Amino acid sequence: MTQLIFLPHEELCPEGMAIDVKPGTSICDAALENGIELEHACEKACACTTCHVIVHEGFGSLEEASEDEEDLLDKAWGLEAESRLGCQALVADAELVVEIPRYTINHAKENH
Ligand code: FES
Repeated sequence: MTQLIFLPHEELCPEGMAIDVKPGTSICDAALENGIELEHACEKACACTTCHVIVHEGFGSLEEASEDEEDLLDKAWGLEAESRLGCQALVADAELVVEIPRYTINHAKENH
């Protein structure tokens, strides 16, 4: 099992959360299975950006993003060098520290 730490997010997990995850599980599934309602508007088909997360530690342990993922990430709100789509990034064997961005593109649109 690999430890996955979610940093606090105001709405989704105000206290943050540390969970043990089976390698091969996506960050999105790991969140959902533990009661963190990470958005996944395209049902994890690598066709939206609502599952965007930023991997602050352990980024290098993840398999590289596909071109499709990279193209989508370019459109994500709050893109960082260590951004990934949560449904595409599979937990490997290194501990991960993950931030759920404050907004998704859906919210960002509503606010403009
Ligand atoms: S849920 Fe749409 S890309 Fe992850």
